[in-house]
Amino acid sequence: MSKNVGIDRRTFMRSAGMTALAGASGVIATGATVATGQSPARMRNGLYDFDTVYDRVGSNCARWDSPPKLYPEGQVKYAMGVATMDFEAAPCITDALIERCKHNNWGYMSSSDSLRDAIVQWNGQRYNFDLDPESVVVSAGVYPGMIAALRSFAPKGTKVLMLTPTYDGFPYHCRHTQVIQTQSEMIYKNGTYEIDWADLESKMTPDTHAMIVCNPQNPTGNVWSKEDLLRIGRLCLEKQIVVLSDEIHADIVRDGHSYVPFASLPDKAVVDNSITFAALSKTFNLAGMKNAYFHTTNPVLLSRIKQHHRADLSTLGVVATEAAYRHGAEWFDQVRPYLDNNHKIVESAVAKMPGVSVTKAQGTYLSWIDFSSVIESIDASEMAIRNGKASPEHYFQDWLVENAGVYMNPGSNYSAGGQGHMRMNLGSSRIVVQEALDSVAAAISKV
Ligand SMILES: Cc1ncc(COP(=O)(O)O)c(C=O)c1O
Repeated sequence: MSKNVGIDRRTFMRSAGMTALAGASGVIATGATVATGQSPARMRNGLYDFDTVYDRVGSNCARWDSPPKLYPEGQVKYAMGVATMDFEAAPCITDALIERCKHNNWGYMSSSDSLRDAIVQWNGQRYNFDLDPESVVVSAGVYPGMIAALRSFAPKGTKVLMLTPTYDGFPYHCRHTQVIQTQSEMIYKNGTYEIDWADLESKMTPDTHAMIVCNPQNPTGNVWSKEDLLRIGRLCLEKQIVVLSDEIHADIVRDGHSYVPFASLPDKAVVDNSITFAALSKTFNLAGMKNAYFHTTNPVLLSRIKQHHRADLSTLGVVATEAAYRHGAEWFDQVRPYLDNNHKIVESAVAKMPGVSVTKAQGTYLSWIDFSSVIESIDASEMAIRNGKASPEHYFQDWLVENAGVYMNPGSNYSAGGQGHMRMNLGSSRIVVQEALDSVAAAISKV
């Protein structure tokens, strides 16, 4: 379907109770072919089509419909912020949802046992990781599980350690549970981030009760090795710090790298001192379905966290997640290399941008780009103060929108070490990624 179906889509949205935003055109402005809600994501010649843009504008989506609220004059052409993907969902998910919708009753569900079996099966097949279904608790997102864990293991006023730059949700969890975020800033070396072990150990003080591990790490893209995880795990065990391993980005790993589940480490005491949080929110883009899970081999930790956790599960979330786990492998095995290639597009585009560099991502569909020399050239520190912006990177965020039409997340949102950086979401058609980068390159060439 072509771009001019945008008008029909807006009419459809209105009748479906959804509103297209002021400033949004109702269709993504790109040179790529654009498909709409009505087009089926079926295979052609055994391949899914990730190049055709699935138009999400006006569907009440955080990625495309929130930035225009901040820039209401239609300045945002490429929304490369919040970590959701643009692709049309794996057909097995939509099929399962349609099937369930044929049954017209939405009372409470009886159990999520079948979903737990599917989770166990995926982990066994993909990672040769033997998960006991009895140790798995299904939750309504990674957030609720992580917050329950902090409430259980980190009393108010105690410290929670994390490697930075890191996901901006973690400081939020800390504020929410009234614990103190302690940051161990990583060292940037040869294009990737490494743990500063001396710093990390020095911060494992007696009042530190938990450490949040992010594997793979958002936003730096580290996929932690078995050795790194074991070393973290042993230090935490020695210092009586519980490991909370957020593995929401688990499946999205670039060629040549392997995801190691923390709970698969070959040290039972280390594993027993941990809880893992996972979901299909990133793998199959199911964030809006609010379904996730956590697991631990330690029954004492499990019973403590359960005291603070009450899952309010959504039927559709359970149906969608189980369908993806059971039947979505083929779709995912095509999207993963596609995302890998999007990273390569960034690497080659950034190589041609003077003074800009990109961290060599090992996983995630997020790119961590160092714009510090451009930020300095436009005097963003001074301009941020004059314009009441939270940081130079926030000023640069506006600058990129105004000058390139590209919306990215400011690095200063990601705790210590985020200065000078922007996070770019690559979960899109490669044509959109390329156009956004071309636009950024043209803007900074004028600085
Ligand atoms: C590391 C990490 N954890 C958790 C979340 C959010 O998880 P949920 O929406 O399941 O609560 C995100 C979303 O971007 C994330 O990157």
